[in-house]
Amino acid sequence: MKVLLFGASGLLGTSLYEVMLKKGMTVLAPTRQSVDLRNPDFLREYLRQLNFDVLVNAAASSNTDMCEERKEECFKVNWIAPSIMARCANEKGAIFIHYSTDYVFDGKKREYFEEDEPNPLSIYGASKFYGEREVIRAGGHYYIVRTSLLYKENGNNFLSRIPEYILNEKEIICTPDLVSAPTYVPYLAEASIQLIDKNPPYGIYHISGGHPMSACEFISLFSKVIGKSPVLKRVMSNDLNRKASRPHHSFLNNFKYVALVGFKPERPEVYMRRIYERVYKKQAE
Ligand SMILES: NC(=O)c1ccc[n+]([C@@H]2O[C@H](COP(=O)([O-])OP(=O)(O)OC[C@H]3O[C@@H](n4cnc5c(N)ncnc54)[C@H](OP(=O)(O)O)[C@@H]3O)[C@@H](O)[C@H]2O)c1
Repeated sequence: MKVLLFGASGLLGTSLYEVMLKKGMTVLAPTRQSVDLRNPDFLREYLRQLNFDVLVNAAASSNTDMCEERKEECFKVNWIAPSIMARCANEKGAIFIHYSTDYVFDGKKREYFEEDEPNPLSIYGASKFYGEREVIRAGGHYYIVRTSLLYKENGNNFLSRIPEYILNEKEIICTPDLVSAPTYVPYLAEASIQLIDKNPPYGIYHISGGHPMSACEFISLFSKVIGKSPVLKRVMSNDLNRKASRPHHSFLNNFKYVALVGFKPERPEVYMRRIYERVYKKQAE
């Protein structure tokens, strides 16, 4: 199976690339240097010349605050590029897997299902919502995977420095009022490939960690798993004066994916223990 993967250097893309190679897929993963997604004409021409069975788009302008200042770039990468990819994948009869976010919602509903109406609060959220709409309009064999608050053992993510802070009893600032569904990236990568293997009906899927939690609750649970007490400074999100607004309760219910594909995430404690054992245990001893 021939796969074209955009965003292979990112948090999710690196895990996807690993899983794809393990499964024996032939993967072409163009870097930003060879295909800059801000250039729609180049992207269209590039895609026309290639043959692939599956197109996976893990690329994004993913910095929520930066998108407020660099709206044009954010719209090109998160809205225009997926639109072109979806149309080209459709012309070739390929499966298209595209990622979106809980930030398409306004967070007033506490729990979100696939058919809930998006109402983004930020430029980033809007760009991802417009991208989703274009993928749906293009039709064909698409999976839009909405996910939230990604974490894993390596790479730049919200968990990256937390264990080090806990182990060294440094203060950690966290927001108790933003509740989402933290998602372990290797699980998301494997779950994405299972969409190809099991081929459930095309459409939108929420693939998340499945347990609603604020960052403060996540850190407290992680500390419990490693037997330490965190030094937490709880700050309400509005007091952080960040450029972009974020939804307060954007928990993505993953019932549809689990019911149709049957691959459930473990409890967060299982992933936390795995991360601790693999990366931090030696450091703590
Ligand atoms: N991270 C989260 O917590 C989170 C939460 C919800 C949803 N998501 C969604 O999940 C998906 C993956 O996110 P992620 O966290 O893995 O993103 P990431 O770590 O920021 O990686 C983004 C990838 O996109 C590439 N990229 C960005 N701009 C590009 C451009 N102009 N041309 C070509 N490539 C470009 C980057 O390449 P370079 O390495 O060259 O920059 C990188 O490979 C995205 O759709 C995101 O919206 C993420």
